[in-house]
Amino acid sequence: MKPIEIKKNIYWVGALDWKLRDFHGYALNKGTTYNAFLVMDEKIALFDTVKVGFKGDLLHNLHQIVDPTKIDYLIVNHVEMDHSGSLPAMVELIKPEKIFCSAMGKKAIIEHFHCEDWPLVVVNSGDSISLGAKTVHFLETRMLHWPDSMFSYIAEDKLLISSDAFGQHWCTSERFDDEVNEAELMAHAEKYYANILLPFSPLVQKLLAKVAEMGIEIDTIAPDHGLIWRKNVAGILASYDRWSRQETKDKAVIVYDTMWESTEKMAKAICRTLMQEGISVKMMNMHVDHRSDVATEILDAKAILLGSPTLNNGILPRMADIISYLKGLKPRGRVGAAFGSYGWSGEAVGILTKALEEMKVELVGEGVKIKNVPTHESLKACVELGELIAKAIKSQE
Ligand code: FEO
Repeated sequence: MKPIEIKKNIYWVGALDWKLRDFHGYALNKGTTYNAFLVMDEKIALFDTVKVGFKGDLLHNLHQIVDPTKIDYLIVNHVEMDHSGSLPAMVELIKPEKIFCSAMGKKAIIEHFHCEDWPLVVVNSGDSISLGAKTVHFLETRMLHWPDSMFSYIAEDKLLISSDAFGQHWCTSERFDDEVNEAELMAHAEKYYANILLPFSPLVQKLLAKVAEMGIEIDTIAPDHGLIWRKNVAGILASYDRWSRQETKDKAVIVYDTMWESTEKMAKAICRTLMQEGISVKMMNMHVDHRSDVATEILDAKAILLGSPTLNNGILPRMADIISYLKGLKPRGRVGAAFGSYGWSGEAVGILTKALEEMKVELVGEGVKIKNVPTHESLKACVELGELIAKAIKSQE
């Protein structure tokens, strides 16, 4: 297969990773891609590389277009190893005239590869370089999602090479958004945002405002993972705006684990009540659901409920896992509560409540504890909690 020409004289030369299933805690059910782009001009430029084990794929693609030793410039939009892992080998082979990166990128490259002798050239937001017929403009996007991250914009082609932003972890033989099922594509983009970019939402808002202020025309967005946007550029930009505003709907996610099904009975009672109140509900049992799917469901949910029985004066370990993960992702503007059964000491609800407070979730009610196995009578406390949560969700419309 020849490398795909995404714009005249600009080629996708990346690699397909059909097998990857775990991206530091984020479950990928359909692999991912490491996108790299080659611009053929008076100066030949390679934008990003690929994960270290995929260097052969990158070289195979490059060789079909040009002898890689003819490449003049490397442009490092992002230093994370899935894009820079092959950088040392490529520098060794190509011996580039210049390697362009942000100031933070230079620091990160040196700290990763201990390469003070590489021809690193720092570019800042607003800087541009001419490749001949094409001009590359740089825009630093610090903390989206690493300090070094930046975008490259090729004005003549209205092409934004966007590093991790707007990506999806989805490996396909297709390269463009209009070649795949739109609903599946958006689901992958949403999961990617929820699990990678959510903590940086205020910066995404600033970036979108900055891009609008710059008035640049974008008809194609080429991220470093997944499909290239050329049909639905407006759609993905609007989705990023909505997700980064943390816009939610009348929806609750009940995240729980259970030992002998008593906490599950409580979760079901809360779920039934919310449904009766017209609230959309997702029950996520941490024994079967993955933390990254929980994060995705929480992206548009107004309420988060956490449930666990007490085990050894604490909570069940899978609940500790999801709490740690969600704290890092920083969902904001949610309401919530904790619940759980217990045998004698009953610390779990207090621990879950504290976790919600640390996540800046607005607490609703007191949290519900039930000793040992719930009865129809004792479950009324869960019904009341469900009603309170429904009221809190509706009051924030
Ligand atoms: Fe795809 Fe932040 O690396």
